[in-house]
Amino acid sequence: MRIFSGIRPTGEIHIGNYLGAIKNWISLQEKNECIFCIVDLHALTTPYKPKDLEKNITETAIVYLAAGLDPTKCILFVQSDVKEHAELAWLLGTITSLGELKRMTQFKEKIRKHPEYINASLLNYPLLMAADILLYQTDLVPVGKDQQQHVELTREIARRFNRKFGKVFKEAKVLLPKMGARIMSLQDPRKKMSKTDDPKEYIELFAKPTEIRKKIMAAVTDPGKEIKYNPTKKPGISNLLTIFSLFSGKSIKELEKEFKGKGYERFKKSLVKLLINSLEPFRRKRKELLSREVYIKEILQKGARRARIIAQSTMQEVRKKMGLI
Ligand code: TYM
Repeated sequence: MRIFSGIRPTGEIHIGNYLGAIKNWISLQEKNECIFCIVDLHALTTPYKPKDLEKNITETAIVYLAAGLDPTKCILFVQSDVKEHAELAWLLGTITSLGELKRMTQFKEKIRKHPEYINASLLNYPLLMAADILLYQTDLVPVGKDQQQHVELTREIARRFNRKFGKVFKEAKVLLPKMGARIMSLQDPRKKMSKTDDPKEYIELFAKPTEIRKKIMAAVTDPGKEIKYNPTKKPGISNLLTIFSLFSGKSIKELEKEFKGKGYERFKKSLVKLLINSLEPFRRKRKELLSREVYIKEILQKGARRARIIAQSTMQEVRKKMGLI
């Protein structure tokens, strides 16, 4: 299977990104042809500083490597290094209606969050994401729940293109994790954990033990004191149980039994310990990688060369079919 996915280099990557996406990528790379991208062009659609972007691209590459992506097993590259992404996005825009783009939940959320920064590329964002996926004849797109709608639109665009111009694209399917597809904010467990929100709401993948302790102990819980999984009535504890389960490998049922009658504080303290231990290897690996900038650059350049070959071959077909000589 050909796998494609990506992350925007917009800030600190958190445990929601890890549990919803990256953790799955690590196992997928063993038996599939995987392509993982740092989608820098997407990161330009929300407010940013050019200096920070440069740093965030390297930091995202470090996350990929520290989390366990292996450049000998998958292609790692930066989106803007392969020009075909922007080119195909433009072409796909000619067969996509304005209504389809305006309906996207993420577009609506983002214009609410940044009313001062409603740019045309924010609306066109799903076209670039469709181009990312379709250029590589992708079979599966492993992402968190918030990206499902964009992958569904990508399928629709692929179908439409194939019908109109002749078959070029594969209809990629979304691949959601069974658990952890939507990790919630630590301060408001009714909304998703997001890296562009207040840092109190998320735990960064490289968070220090003191930060982990502070944020988990301050995480919003629910009335009552029972450790029970019930996302509607107990969204706070249910979110923490999900995080606990995914990092420990224990099922929710086992955890409910283990913490029966023990109260929120004991449960939170155990979660702090678990997170400190689980994130420690990532921190260690990051420290090592920080001094290897040349090595990281080489991986990304090599990745871009390999990606370009696939992307160019798809684009050649697209141009031919669309009458562009
Ligand atoms: P981004 O950068 O917002 O997030 C990266 C990945 O993390 C997942 N994710 C979550 N999963 C569980 N719980 C959460 N709270 C949570 N927050 C984020 C996201 O679903 C995503 O998988 N548009 C994409 C990037 C992209 C892309 C692509 C993905 C661009 N082109 C092509 C796949 C294929 C985005 O903004 O992800």
